[in-house]
Amino acid sequence: MIATTITAVRGRRVWDSRGRPTVEVEVSLGGDAVGRAIAPAGASTGSGEAIDLRDGGAPFGGLDVRQAVGHVDGPIARALVGRDAGDPAAIDAALIGLDGTPNKARLGGNAIVATSMAVLHARAAAAGLPVWRLLAGGKPVRLPLPEIQIFGGGAHAERRVDVQDFMVMCPGAGSFAEALDWTAEIYRAAGALMRRAGKLQGVADEGGYWPVFAANEEALDTLVLAIEAAGFAPGADVAISLDVAASEFGRAGSYRLALDGRTLDTAGMIAMLEGWLDAYPIVSIEDPVAEDDAEGFRAFTAAHGGRCQVIGDDFLVTDAGRVERAAEAGAANAVLIKPNQAGTLSETHAALLAGQRHGFGTIVSARSGETEDTTIAHLAVGWDAGQLKVGSFSRSERMAKWNEVLRIEESLGTEARFAGWSALPFRRDS
Ligand code: PGA
Ligand code: ZN
Repeated sequence: MIATTITAVRGRRVWDSRGRPTVEVEVSLGGDAVGRAIAPAGASTGSGEAIDLRDGGAPFGGLDVRQAVGHVDGPIARALVGRDAGDPAAIDAALIGLDGTPNKARLGGNAIVATSMAVLHARAAAAGLPVWRLLAGGKPVRLPLPEIQIFGGGAHAERRVDVQDFMVMCPGAGSFAEALDWTAEIYRAAGALMRRAGKLQGVADEGGYWPVFAANEEALDTLVLAIEAAGFAPGADVAISLDVAASEFGRAGSYRLALDGRTLDTAGMIAMLEGWLDAYPIVSIEDPVAEDDAEGFRAFTAAHGGRCQVIGDDFLVTDAGRVERAAEAGAANAVLIKPNQAGTLSETHAALLAGQRHGFGTIVSARSGETEDTTIAHLAVGWDAGQLKVGSFSRSERMAKWNEVLRIEESLGTEARFAGWSALPFRRDS
């Protein structure tokens, strides 16, 4: 038996950052190496995503995962024990074949993605390498530009404001560590502004301040003030990034802005965002229109792709085929990469490679439901994604990822290179 032969696969029910059950998987190899990973969970999910298997019924609001854990211990373990973890593409193909559905609904995307990630950790343990280094395979990598939430909104804050994420990026920083230093000052400054305005009411699901604002624009104004109060030049050192997550409040070309009490068509949405791009130092907008609005994506990218990263999340659902079609149509110039949208790491990597082939920005991303699992930090570095989105700068399920990238940066010493501006598709020459 070779050292990377899978000898055991075990499921375990653990808990995520919203106090909901989720799936952990442990994979053991012949040489005694063990790998472990936990499935995250989204709240504003795209309709094309891999499906988490939830038990339904009364317990935990129907969100229990005992069947998914049972699938790990049963059919998944039976299919994988005896296989070589050294061929992860074959393992993922076996998982996809065993499930047999287009969206992993039978075994559960949560069971499958945790297994796929646990196999990666086991391989790294067997090789005696950090996960990112195994993935890099000797190729040069960059430390990712972090995209960090200051105010949470949308589905993560009871729809208190329409826009889901008001974030900062620090492309002017000299290193990943410095980008975190700057973000920490901005997060603090934003908290002080909220306190002074009597609007400090805790945090939303991803750790950004609860958005006690009368308009989406008030959040943008406050963000600019926080950047300035922390001593940075908005647009030069530090820029703004938004996740509109428009599929949450729009479909079929009709967008209901609850905060403003008005309904916009696609052209109206694009005009509103254009106004924001003109008035604020915004360099990235995710899901500016809904997942069913490919023409809206095309029109927005044609108009603003030269000055703004246009990210498809719900629109592209980490699917290589969708990324190819979007690139051909000029609908988006960047793709969000979420392993549990695809369901296996092979499919996740294929989507990222498709994006890189077309000069897209590629952003490895957490979900709103997270845990201490730091796999995505390693994917962002090892696959040289250039960008990482994890939520805010509080709550340890978020900080675990930022801290893991700090460790990786430190381990690279003088070889460490921070992606900075070069991560953004319209600033490739930077
Ligand atoms: P989700 O949101 O994890 O709740 O789906 C994250 C995002 O939209 O980027
Ligand atoms: Zn999103």
